[in-house]
Amino acid sequence: MQEHTEMKSDLPYNIFLIGFMGSGKSTVSNYLSTHYQMEKVEMDQRIVQQEGMSISDIFAAHGEEYFRDLETKLLIELQTKKNVVVSCGGGVPMREQNVKEMKKNGKIILLEASPKTIYERVKNSHDRPLLEDNKNIPYIAQLMEQRRQKYEAAADVTIQTDKKSVSNICKELFEKLTAQEKEECIQ
Ligand code: S3P
Repeated sequence: MQEHTEMKSDLPYNIFLIGFMGSGKSTVSNYLSTHYQMEKVEMDQRIVQQEGMSISDIFAAHGEEYFRDLETKLLIELQTKKNVVVSCGGGVPMREQNVKEMKKNGKIILLEASPKTIYERVKNSHDRPLLEDNKNIPYIAQLMEQRRQKYEAAADVTIQTDKKSVSNICKELFEKLTAQEKEECIQ
């Protein structure tokens, strides 16, 4: 398999990072943008800027469905771009339309982590309304289980992130994408 050293990436499509809250999507997208010079879009951040309020305030003022519609609209806007790494909100793959929109010009990478790892990463933050009153391992495990099937069905590539460095996760990501492209060429 081709060895992947860090370099400017020039993908003819976008990379969509999906996974549960705290699975490492932002960390990986920051690394890809710095070390592989990819343009980065943090969906939550974009929506917060656009609406001029926090995610928690959007949920409280307009409801979750309104927020979910903003996510879909943003995914459609991103179809004109390429070589962008998109850090998706954890709920994005739950809507079937979103998966279709992402696949139109992108590869979907699922980042996985154990409920315990997730808990450690989210326990001190207060910007995730779905976890705010439920920050404990059993709740995280249960919500993760509810979402697992849709996450896995959406993913082109899955990466287990527990105890791995971000640089190794990114290397694995490119190796798996390259291997998959080779397979697609053979078929
Ligand atoms: C959500 C995940 C959050 C954010 C919102 C809802 C979810 O993003 O979009 O709080 O439904 O899983 P992160 O996955 O970036 O924390």
